[in-house]
Amino acid sequence: MNTDPWWSSENFWRKSAIFVTAFMALILIGLTFHTVSVIVAGTERVPAYAVINNRIDYVFNKERNFQVPKIGAEAPLFGKKLTESEAYDLVTLGKLTVQSKNCMNCHTMLGNGAYYAPDLTKAWLDPGWGTEASREQLMTNFLLDPVGNARTYGSGRRMPNLNITEPEAKGIIAFLKWMSSIDTNGFPANFDPIKQGEE
Ligand code: HEC
Repeated sequence: MNTDPWWSSENFWRKSAIFVTAFMALILIGLTFHTVSVIVAGTERVPAYAVINNRIDYVFNKERNFQVPKIGAEAPLFGKKLTESEAYDLVTLGKLTVQSKNCMNCHTMLGNGAYYAPDLTKAWLDPGWGTEASREQLMTNFLLDPVGNARTYGSGRRMPNLNITEPEAKGIIAFLKWMSSIDTNGFPANFDPIKQGEE
């Protein structure tokens, strides 16, 4: 008679391995669908592209203990209110430009990229743009000629000229504005948003 305990049989371990692998595969598939559903534009944490028609405010949330985005009053980018599909086109132009010029070689966006240069996730809200009124023009000038408009804040690092056209620069700014409206769970930490007027 076989006196080995039940859990030492080969058959038991083979079945367990198959069960655990199959179970984890199901969990992974479920999590993948869930992730995709919460990262598309127009959902709770990732606003629709037409958010670039509004002011992006940040307010400190005591419960979560960091700043969270708050979609403010109407404030169309470049003074022109866009439909959702026009906004999508502009943000997409910016995103494609960012990808084709490989900005992530130096910068980080949404946790991806390098840290040679400032994190761009919330660059739209950088107080370095001075005031709300000057921001769009200064960003455009900077992207068209980063060498001539260097603002290195003592780091000595310079952004090279990347031959960005004016429409591309506007697309990039739309992309950055949209990205700043995403609730990134307080990432990057400790940023100080540009002072904006009261509503
Ligand atoms: C070779 C490295 C490099 C590449 C590539 C690069 N940058 Fe930069 N960028 C920098 C450096 C360094 C700074 C900071 C110096 C400065 O502000 O003058 C900077 C600053 C910026 C700022 C200002 C950041 C802030 O918080 O105010 C923006 C916006 C920006 N870059 C956008 C871009 C975009 C968009 C691309 C791609 C089209 C890009 N950069 C590609 C190096 C780079």
